[in-house]
Amino acid sequence: MIEDGVDKLIANMVCKDFFQGDKAMPVLNGVSVEFEKGKTYAITGVSGSGKSTLLHILGGLDVPTSGTVLLNDLDIYSLKASAKERILNQRFGFVFQFHYLIKELTVLENIIVVGLIKGQARKECIARAEELLVEMGLPDKRNNYPSQLSGGQQQRVAIARAVFNKPCFLLADEPTGNLDKQNAQTVVDLILRAQSDWGMGVILCSHDPDVYNKMGMVYNLHDGILTIK
Ligand SMILES: Nc1ncnc2c1ncn2[C@@H]1O[C@H](COP(=O)(O)OP(=O)(O)OP(=O)(O)O)[C@@H](O)[C@H]1O
Ligand SMILES: [Mg+2]
Repeated sequence: MIEDGVDKLIANMVCKDFFQGDKAMPVLNGVSVEFEKGKTYAITGVSGSGKSTLLHILGGLDVPTSGTVLLNDLDIYSLKASAKERILNQRFGFVFQFHYLIKELTVLENIIVVGLIKGQARKECIARAEELLVEMGLPDKRNNYPSQLSGGQQQRVAIARAVFNKPCFLLADEPTGNLDKQNAQTVVDLILRAQSDWGMGVILCSHDPDVYNKMGMVYNLHDGILTIK
């Protein structure tokens, strides 16, 4: 089984149908694409074109109707649930449009929780979280609750949480969808640091040209087919 040295995420002829009653509604019609660690990618396309569906399938969060998703040569949907969960936790970090921070936990606790789940020592987790909070420009917010932060600040905490385990790939779904221009810029710059400072691959869905044009490679999803924009 691949543990270290994962550097490619590959979709092979991925199709996804959703069902309305018994009528199949095709959303992805054979998406084949290869993403490399250390590079940045955007997936754009109109609302409803299937960007989130594709990102979820790439990250192991949804199941393709047909086709495969490989981490190097490991087919993630052929794995047993427990192995898939482990791969998911270790290899992917997710940032969503709505940050999904746990409102009962402080900023620091929200970040370290992913390390604690992995069985890492609390002291080490706190040290890493504090480091990341400095990176995110939020060192003084460690003991605040998410409700005491602005939307942009909450999204920066979500990025810290997503990169905490040093995943190979950071998957971001409309991470700036709820932010004003200035906060969006800050969040995109921090996401780009996942690539420049930590060598992660970044795959980001957005329909904002100011955001997607900052990625090295831009794909467009239309009629279930992914093409280079
Ligand atoms: N769980 C589901 N069950 C049924 N249909 C779904 C489901 N999830 C998504 N869809 C449909 O699949 C299509 C693609 O949805 P998706 O959320 O991937 O689009 P998107 O490109 O991310 O859109 P947006 O830009 O608005 O976020 C839409 O028509 C949506 O209604
Ligand atoms: Mg979406």
